[in-house]
Amino acid sequence: MNSQDIILDVKGLKKYFPLKSGGLFGKVQGYIKAVDDVTFYVKRGETIGVVGESGCGKTTLGRCISLLYEPTAGDVKVYLDEGVLDVGNMNKEETKKFRRNVQMIFQDPYASLNPRMTVLNIVGESLLVNDVAKGDEMEQMVGQIVQKVGLKVEHLRRYPHSFSGGQRQRIGIARALVINPQLVVADEPVSALDVSIQAQILNQLKDLQKDFGLSYMFVSHNMSVIRYMSDRIMVMYAGKLVEMAPREVLLNHPRHPYTELLLSAVPRVSRRGSFRLVTPGEPPDLLNLPQGCVFNPRCKYAKEVCKEVAPSLVQVGPDHFVRCHTLDEFELKGI
Ligand SMILES: Nc1ncnc2c1ncn2[C@@H]1O[C@H](COP(=O)(O)OP(=O)(O)OP(=O)(O)O)[C@@H](O)[C@H]1O
Ligand code: SF4
Ligand SMILES: [Mg+2]
Repeated sequence: MNSQDIILDVKGLKKYFPLKSGGLFGKVQGYIKAVDDVTFYVKRGETIGVVGESGCGKTTLGRCISLLYEPTAGDVKVYLDEGVLDVGNMNKEETKKFRRNVQMIFQDPYASLNPRMTVLNIVGESLLVNDVAKGDEMEQMVGQIVQKVGLKVEHLRRYPHSFSGGQRQRIGIARALVINPQLVVADEPVSALDVSIQAQILNQLKDLQKDFGLSYMFVSHNMSVIRYMSDRIMVMYAGKLVEMAPREVLLNHPRHPYTELLLSAVPRVSRRGSFRLVTPGEPPDLLNLPQGCVFNPRCKYAKEVCKEVAPSLVQVGPDHFVRCHTLDEFELKGI
């Protein structure tokens, strides 16, 4: 693939969290492999959806891409309009460039905004920190983006507590976009919101993507949200990427048994009114993963080799990759 077509290229990304006995300074007992050898790419201007059950590593992956976590291993390259960044080997200037161009929108609009800062200071902070603008110029830029995300200039002097959940998430979106990034990692940006507000925010994100030519990495456990937002979808299980494909291909012709299981799962409405992904079978214990394919204890297609050998990621079609031993043996069901 031409590097002009892609904005993010990730190879063999790992994030292992050490598990220590007796607190922070205890002995390392083992590792939680939250992200384990994940390889994928994001094309310029597209939305790639990341889906999977709770604990499969979606947030950790997003945080590694945004440099909020330092990866344990792997090769991450960001192809910006002004040149390529090799994320593991950046100098100070390049790190600054990275931070300007890769931004994150967080799940919890309550916890992610500093209650003691005004909207002007929350949204304007990255302009200040990155020496882009200050004073009146900063206020003007913040005013523009705030209106773009559906808030008012009068809101600039207010504090987060005076806003609803949906409005707070708009502040979080304005904060990410004010600095004019090229890639945005959105981690469950609507799952803390009432269902009635979710569609408004999702549509807003789509409009902003068009207006600013953004590329999105969009994390969610909610298959209908992923389906609505994504051009391509990647499915994670126990820290591994198990399938990645263009949206319609993944939904109609899945090739991984876990994707099939996800698509068959009945969404349950939680107390907040949002859909929670409920898939049959025991979720994996990351501290005690099975040998071979990590999905084998839950897989109805598992055969002997699956209990011994971990499958590798194989390309099976255009933009379609799968990690499974039984690729051509079964016809899997989509939606
Ligand atoms: N800072 C951390 N230290 C230790 N373990 C962590 C840390 N962050 C995440 N983990 C572990 O890594 C695994 C993956 O967590 P992660 O939050 O990435 O999952 P997720 O797919 O985002 O789940 P959810 O849908 O619940 O948000 C989990 O087992 C989690 O407990
Ligand atoms: S490798 Fe085997 S156990 Fe794993 S998903 Fe494929 S068929 Fe199932
Ligand atoms: Mg998460």
